[in-house]
Amino acid sequence: MSAREATSRLKSSKDLLEVAVQTTSQSRPGRILLPKRIVLTGFMGAGKSTLGPRLAQQLGWAFIDLDDEIVRAEQKSIAQIFDSIGEARFRELERNALANALRLEKIVLALGGGAIETVDNRQRIQEDTETLLLYLAAPLEVLIERCEQQQLQRKAVRRPILEKRAELTERFQRRRPLYELADWTLDTTGQSLDELVVAIMARWNNASWNTAQENQKRA
Ligand code: S3P
Repeated sequence: MSAREATSRLKSSKDLLEVAVQTTSQSRPGRILLPKRIVLTGFMGAGKSTLGPRLAQQLGWAFIDLDDEIVRAEQKSIAQIFDSIGEARFRELERNALANALRLEKIVLALGGGAIETVDNRQRIQEDTETLLLYLAAPLEVLIERCEQQQLQRKAVRRPILEKRAELTERFQRRRPLYELADWTLDTTGQSLDELVVAIMARWNNASWNTAQENQKRA
């Protein structure tokens, strides 16, 4: 093996360690036994809607984007909804859409970045022992940069909350402890989509519910 190959192998094994999924919160009332859904949370630009479909594909599950559900039901873009009825009413639509989505099984569900601020949404997720909450984390500067890149490449729809720049830091700080209520956290900084999906699947395959099933099979 050449020195260059060795260095690149070292780098990739180090990267894998760095992208390990962390268990974050123990704050749930009940323990998750066998999740029927994975809910992705995190600020705008966290990668919920890009990583979600890839993860769903790996699991053989369906992918649902909560914003898309709202857009479909209302026949308006998120920006049009904000402009016409305001944020508070948007949050009501979001709450109803989440309640409906949580009835489905075998889904990866991407939340909008602000859904976690609604108490009812947090309660629903935390009381549901068949739903695993995964937080895709990154520093605010990285998130803003990603959103700007997406807008430049026209890969993202207009985000009304992103436009209120002066409020972004405060929103991020207010939401961060709520995101951290997630069962698992994954630092997405500097990692490719593939590396992130591999890290989540590794954690999933080693999770207690899978291990318990394996042990049962062996016994
Ligand atoms: C919002 C994030 C958006 C969307 C809406 C509000 C927020 O979703 O739900 O514009 O409050 O952070 P993404 O996080 O998918 O951009």
